[in-house]
Amino acid sequence: MASAVPASVAKRVATLRASIETHNRNYYVLDQPTISDAEYDTLYRELEALEREHPSLVTPDSPTQRVGGAPLATFASVTHRVPMLSIRTETNTTPEGAAQFDARIRRDLGLAPDAPPVEYNAELKFDGLAISLRYEHGHLTVAATRGDGEVGEDVTRNIHTIRAIPLRFQSRKPPAVLEVRGEVYMSRRDFARLNARQEAAGLRTFINPRNTAAGAVRQLDPAMTAQRPLRFFAYGIGEVRDWDVPATHAGILDALAAFGLPVDGHRRIARGASELIAFYEAATAQRDALPFDIDGVVYKVNSLALQRELGFVTREPRWAVAHKFPAEEMPTLLQDIGVQVGRTGAITPIARLVPVFVGGVTVTNATLHNEDEIRRKDVRIGDTVLVRRAGDVIPEIVRVLPERRPADAREFVMPAKCPECGSAIERLPDEAVARCTGGLICPAQRKQALRHFASRHALDIEGLGEKLIDQLVDGELVKTAADIYRLTVADLAALDRMADKSAANVIAAIDRSRETTLARFIYALGIRHVGEATARDLAAHFGALAPLLDASAEQLLEVRDVGPVLAEAIHDFFAEPHNREVIDALVRAGVRWKEGPPQRAAAGPLVGRTFVLTGTLPTLAREDAKALLEAAGATVTGSVSKKTDYVVAGADAGSKLTKAQALGIAILDEAGLQAMVGQRSGTT
Ligand code: IVH
Repeated sequence: MASAVPASVAKRVATLRASIETHNRNYYVLDQPTISDAEYDTLYRELEALEREHPSLVTPDSPTQRVGGAPLATFASVTHRVPMLSIRTETNTTPEGAAQFDARIRRDLGLAPDAPPVEYNAELKFDGLAISLRYEHGHLTVAATRGDGEVGEDVTRNIHTIRAIPLRFQSRKPPAVLEVRGEVYMSRRDFARLNARQEAAGLRTFINPRNTAAGAVRQLDPAMTAQRPLRFFAYGIGEVRDWDVPATHAGILDALAAFGLPVDGHRRIARGASELIAFYEAATAQRDALPFDIDGVVYKVNSLALQRELGFVTREPRWAVAHKFPAEEMPTLLQDIGVQVGRTGAITPIARLVPVFVGGVTVTNATLHNEDEIRRKDVRIGDTVLVRRAGDVIPEIVRVLPERRPADAREFVMPAKCPECGSAIERLPDEAVARCTGGLICPAQRKQALRHFASRHALDIEGLGEKLIDQLVDGELVKTAADIYRLTVADLAALDRMADKSAANVIAAIDRSRETTLARFIYALGIRHVGEATARDLAAHFGALAPLLDASAEQLLEVRDVGPVLAEAIHDFFAEPHNREVIDALVRAGVRWKEGPPQRAAAGPLVGRTFVLTGTLPTLAREDAKALLEAAGATVTGSVSKKTDYVVAGADAGSKLTKAQALGIAILDEAGLQAMVGQRSGTT
């Protein structure tokens, strides 16, 4: 029988919770603590003690429930009902980049030169990990990573440990659903303290705040996450139900702040290009003095009505841009140039450098892309070079410092034979890259292909990493991806540095990977040029594997965003008997996925709408107009009926137009068509 809890105790518990949440907010959100750490601890301990005495009073969103709990085996998947989009990066890293964005917006909105300036919300671009927080009736229910933008990982329990994130809204009438999007990050001071603690304890130190924050969120053990001092800034929203969405982005951020979410105070309304430029310059000047790392700024059109009007291009909104700071550059000595063999045999020259700290990490290797690039930059062994690294990008050589070239600097010579398998290296006349001709007999190519196959966004085989794959290939236990599924615990346990327990874990992960999706499977095959987005498009377009295997290059061209080069690469891949054998073997090994009907251009604003084209359009050929409509998801038919939604009429339109008019069907001209296909709908 549950013992009755005295009302006075229940009341005290409620008071303590409210007061602890207020102090969390003062500390983490407002940056204005009003009590000492010791006073905070006293309140916290009193609450803990009362909850221990009266377990029936514990609620999931009590501040005491932020500490974690038992570790997870894997993260569950979360499908984002509103995709987590990324935004375009302005490539011009001078202040002028801001003016280019403004010019594009004005052009896309069709504004006259003398029309008043567009209003933007300018924000800092926080360097951390994107997270979506789902609040239902004001309670935090699910927190997920971005993943591929459509499906992320459920990191709710880890996010619970972040005190800057309210477990419930400060609102008497919260929305039924509000997804808050933002960035988890670590402050510079917290990062320095964490590393000091690590060092004192004789543990390894962390490289930079961004990777540490991202790693902490993706810990399977929430107790580990709880030990990392993480913070959060909200910068947008996803799904919304039963909420009067403010008319501007700034209004949304104000509302989020009022609900108790941390929103950065450096955001500003900027009118027109000059104020964007001023914001960029101010952020550049303040950057080093900020309490957290940023890698640029973000501009967003403030009015949601204008955002809707601007819409999307492929998967990026037209109304926002990331304007990054120029990447940091540091000089160092180039000691040698080696080569690396990629998954498709591409030989990439790699600069071996005297280690240099740049862009937040120590760099020892940098890509030189290809021979032409080396000649163009006139890079020689022995040169002092400028090295650049930005975000997650592979470090690059910017240029040589010619005044520091020694007399004995040597030119790079592409080896004639693959250093991995001894096969000839060949460079086709019209290609920039040299390739190892060894194909899958080349262990380097095999290793890369297997690494890709097992990687997180492919078949996601946890524990099957670089070192293990190297051992498996070198020991000839695995030649193709299908061989992975024949491995036993005994095979793995016999390898170096592999305990029975870990061997069993890897085999279990391999077994779990059998259940996958068609899109992941296609991506995992490692077809040249086929990234995740294309793999998803192919899976949706064909619905099943068999029709994809047999598709002609022409049929492949019908897939969204697939051009001739890609169509050819896909076709050639499936035409290769060896690849078919591996695919068959994988299926025999039990790799499986759900198949469904083809969803041709199922995305797009015009899904379910039927169009008829008639007459001659001023600029678009009939075929192009049809392709545009279909790419946007519309069906185009030849004759007008009651089922027709729109008729696009050009010059000399005849009976179809008359019939449409008689039926009262909407009639568009070419400009109307362009507006409809350009305006991708749906998300904020
Ligand atoms: S807005 C649809 N605002 O930068 C708009 N992103 O692609 C979605 N980021 O990884 C993004 N600070 O996590 C936005 N103030 C900010 C941001 C920001 C950092 C990150 C974001 C994503 C990338 C943008």
